[in-house]
Amino acid sequence: MDEGNQQQQQQCPDNTMTPQPEEQDEEGHNEDNTSEIYNTVTSEVHHFSKEEDLDTERGAMSETAGANPVQDVISPAEEERKEIEDEEFECLLGANGEVVLWSSKWETVLSRFDFVWPDQLKVPAAGQETPVSAPVPDSDGDLQVTRKKDLGTREGCVLIEHQNATTLDLVGEQVWRGAIFLADFLLNHPHILTDTHVLELASGVGLTSIVSAMIAKKVTVTDVDRGDILDLIHRNIKRNPELIKADVEVKEIDFYNHTTIDDLADRMKDVSVILVADVIYHNQLTDAFFSTVLRLMSEPPEKTMYVAMEKRYVFTLEDMESVAPCYEYFLQKLDWLCCQNLSRVDWTVEQNSTNFKHYFTYERTRHLVLWKIKAKLK
Ligand SMILES: C[S@@+](CC[C@H](N)C(=O)[O-])C[C@H]1O[C@@H](n2cnc3c(N)ncnc32)[C@H](O)[C@@H]1O
Repeated sequence: MDEGNQQQQQQCPDNTMTPQPEEQDEEGHNEDNTSEIYNTVTSEVHHFSKEEDLDTERGAMSETAGANPVQDVISPAEEERKEIEDEEFECLLGANGEVVLWSSKWETVLSRFDFVWPDQLKVPAAGQETPVSAPVPDSDGDLQVTRKKDLGTREGCVLIEHQNATTLDLVGEQVWRGAIFLADFLLNHPHILTDTHVLELASGVGLTSIVSAMIAKKVTVTDVDRGDILDLIHRNIKRNPELIKADVEVKEIDFYNHTTIDDLADRMKDVSVILVADVIYHNQLTDAFFSTVLRLMSEPPEKTMYVAMEKRYVFTLEDMESVAPCYEYFLQKLDWLCCQNLSRVDWTVEQNSTNFKHYFTYERTRHLVLWKIKAKLK
């Protein structure tokens, strides 16, 4: 591996530098899951509650709506949902003095990601639009059941259980800006997902998939089966039942182990859209990601992939300037992809404009980029 690559290997998703990961085996796996050798890494996205007035009237409505009448027979699905609703999150002060809802059972926090319903999407009936199954504190520590609506707009929120900081091997348990950015793009262009089967790779906590499930027909949410990640996605899906219209399944896809793709052959037969956010931060993983993409996109039916990411800049003495080596490597791999399987595939690669409306609340930095890759089968 050259020096440039070594620098890229040391870069964490939040731009902090970590110790060099231990040797990996041929397939790139870390044999002993070396969590203790990494510094803690923290996503830049934490708590999205805003200082806004409570709408007590709607809050009370939502609370009553959440109280189910006594039923003789409770279905397993209802039981699961009730389990989520009954979970206890304690109000704590976070490291930066912010209020967080903390689950001692899962050792996670709960945050709400508010959005405005796009006009193009069918708005749910009044009283059902905000899936608040658990109140979330605002920055004063008050439990915020729901936010005041702007006149003429409907607001929704995605409730996400996540970690605020993890070791590098469990970064998927945090929420990364690329996931919100990609979800925002999809709310701006819902036609991309209408009547489709969407496959999300490296989904993390599942936020982008949950938003996709508001629009698409089917969504397959995947990540590597490591730590609590697949269970965390399951819990987040159950947390947002009012948003989810699609048939959603959570499965493993490990970029280093393509038997995980073989195992999904039946389910994947009609996937036409692939989504990926913030997966470009380690060159070996980028290689494995591109070999997965090559495999998935060379098989029918034809697929279009949207890859969102935040360019991570580092200052290097060698260059005497800030560079984004992982992103540069991603661009090289895009060139590589466009030369693969040419007897069977016509590749089209283009960078999408990022000048679209904000439906979610987040900082749209200029380092957020979005690429569209289409594989036309011959
Ligand atoms: C920086 S996180 C991004 C998570 C999520 N997409 C987001 O934007 O919030 C990187 C993701 O890559 C996943 N990942 C790491 N190694 C992987 C592998 N071998 N196969 C598939 N996904 C992997 C992690 O589990 C994590 O979800």
